[in-house]
Order: sequence, then structure tokens, then C-alpha cells
Amino acid sequence: MRYSFFFIKLAFALCNIINYCTSDIPNFVSGFGLTVCSSTQLSNELFEVVVSSNEVLGNQTIRILVPQNYSTSGNNHRYSVLYLLHGAYADATAWTGAAQDVIGNTSLIAVMPNGGPFGFYTNWMIPGSLAPQNWRIFHMEQLVPWIDFNLRTVAKKQGRAIAGLSMGGYGAIHYAELYSYNFIYAASFSGALDLLDPQVQNLILHLTTIDDKPLVGPFGYPSEPLSSNGWFAQDTITRAAQLRDIHIALYNCNNDYTDSTFLPGCYRLRDLLVLLNIPVYFDDYGDGQSIGHGCDGKHDWACWKASFIDVLPRMMAVLQQGY
Ligand SMILES: *[C@@H]1O[C@H](CO)[C@@H](O)[C@H](O)[C@H]1NC(C)=O
Ligand SMILES: *[C@@H]1O[C@H](CO)[C@@H](O)[C@H](O)[C@H]1NC(C)=O
Ligand SMILES: *[C@@H]1O[C@H](CO)[C@@H](O)[C@H](O)[C@H]1NC(C)=O
Repeated sequence: MRYSFFFIKLAFALCNIINYCTSDIPNFVSGFGLTVCSSTQLSNELFEVVVSSNEVLGNQTIRILVPQNYSTSGNNHRYSVLYLLHGAYADATAWTGAAQDVIGNTSLIAVMPNGGPFGFYTNWMIPGSLAPQNWRIFHMEQLVPWIDFNLRTVAKKQGRAIAGLSMGGYGAIHYAELYSYNFIYAASFSGALDLLDPQVQNLILHLTTIDDKPLVGPFGYPSEPLSSNGWFAQDTITRAAQLRDIHIALYNCNNDYTDSTFLPGCYRLRDLLVLLNIPVYFDDYGDGQSIGHGCDGKHDWACWKASFIDVLPRMMAVLQQGY
């Protein structure tokens, strides 16, 4: 009698330990150049991790959305990862609502890093007093391997996608070009794709910065000769051929100044990709009616969310669905 009671208790304790070990709630640890300052679980699926890196000034927030059954699906179940890049004036919190609403129960991990209000997803040419501003190294060489280390991901090109809006739309295509071995799918929503377009340059240079001067930090001065010109070197059109083995989606509209300014560059990149035989899904949704979901054809969340709703099944059809 005593013994069987003891064994029941022991079995119960073992079950608890096994259950604890296999439930695998993410525990974010430092590595790959990132030091974890804090890690907070905001809801069953949403995590917020603050890290520091020698590549960018200040602490950086990363929001991570895991599938609802991430912690119960077993130690061997791996998920594809979508990196979501925010626009200017925004931060790591920007994508949260749209990601939760659109991704829903799709079997996908979403990683939403801070990219600075004007970081432009590049290693800055002129960081000045804000040094270091090496956003590209932080995101592509530290964050990506750190995510694969801390979460059960499909840790290879076939398991990763990247998308972004406006400044982040540029970032998604730019990163896909420079790290084509990292991504199988890249999508831009209202992205500033053609940095050599004088109207696009004008728009970027006149984003209000802290010191009210033109924003020359990321790409330098547009008047520089081509050999040292950051706008030329970082232009998505210049490097389009590097998208050779990636699926590309470009969404843009034309019902306000910003999207109308980005539209010609969007067409230029599309035309070049078609010429290069690179798979591209292109949607100029004009005043927004054709894409629906309340989109008014402007540079706003209704349209980015509508674009995200449209692209997600296309992306999932290409991504490797776990293993
Ligand atoms: C970054 O976080 C660490 C640890 O929480 C803190 O000591 C430090 O002051 C923070 N740095 C900045 C620039 O906020
Ligand atoms: C996780 O949940 C999704 C959607 O609810 C379901 O399709 C999938 O089979 C589940 N995966 C596991 C491993 O339980
Ligand atoms: C996800 O699935 C759960 C049940 O598995 C359901 O309660 C929940 O409403 C679903 N969420 C979404 C956004 O579809």
C-alpha cells in the first residue's frame, strides 16, 4: 500500500518534469553578438525581448509571435519564420496588431525587430554621434542566427521569408538581395525601392530627424560620385539580379503622395525582374478597391494589412512547412 502510493507520487512527479521539459516555452538566451537584457511574455503567443548589440546604439526591442500550439507541438516540430520590418517613425511594436490579426493560426513564427525610426536597414554611411548604426549586421548576421538558436525554426533559406512596409519594404528587398541565401520569399508593401529616383531621395532626405537636418546618415549625400554613392550602392534596382532564386512580391498603390512617389520605382524593379526571369508577383492596387479590406489606396495600415492578407497564402505555398 505504502509502496504503491510512493510510486504513484513518483510517477506524477516524473510526468510533471517530462511535461515541463517537453512543453518548451521559449527561453531567450544571449548569443551571436546579442546580449539579452530582458524577456517578457506579453500573451500566450507574444514575446518581447530587449537585447543589446555592439552593432547598434542603445537597447533594441524584438517582438516575436509564435503559433498558438508552439509550446505543445513537441520538441521536433519546427516552424518557418517571417521577418516583418517596420516603417519610418516606428519601432518593434508597429507590426503586432496586423501580425496577430493576419497570421492568426497560420503555422509560422513572426519576428518583428526594431529597426530605428530612420535606420533604413543599412549600415549607415555617416552615423556621426549616433554610431554605431549597423542595422544590416544587427538584423542579418546577429538576429537571424540568434532566432534559429532560440526557437524551433526551419533554419535555412527554404524556411525564411521577409516582408516590410515603406522603409521596411525597401529593407525586405535590400536584405533579400544582400543575403539571398537567407530567404526564399521577400515582399514589399509601399516600399521605397528606387533610391536613385530623385523624388524618392527627396522624400527620404526630408523625413524629420532629431536635428532637423537632411537625413544623410544612412546613404550619405546623393551628390557623391557613383563610386562612393550610398544611394547607388544600396539601391534595390542596382542589385536586382541578386534576387535570382527568391520569390518576390511587390504591392503599391497611388492614391496619395507617398505611394505615388514610390510607384515608378516599383514598376522599374518589376520590369527588371521580369526581364531577368525572376518570379515576381506584382500588384498596383491603385485606389485600393481591387485589394479590398478597407484599403483606400493610401500609405496606411489598412492597405498594408490588405497586402499582407493577400501575400500570406502565396508565401506559405513557397515556405517549407516544418519538418
Ligand atoms: C540597456 O539595458 C540594460 C539592462 O537592462 C541597462 O542596464 C542599460 O542601462 C540599458 N541601456 C540603455 C541605453 O537603455
Ligand atoms: C497546430 O495548430 C494548427 C492550427 O490550429 C494545426 O493545423 C496544426 O496541426 C497544429 N500542429 C500541431 C503539431 O499540433
Ligand atoms: C485559433 O485556433 C483556436 C482553436 O484552436 C481558436 O480558438 C482561435 O479562435 C483561432 N484563432 C484565430 C485567429 O483564428
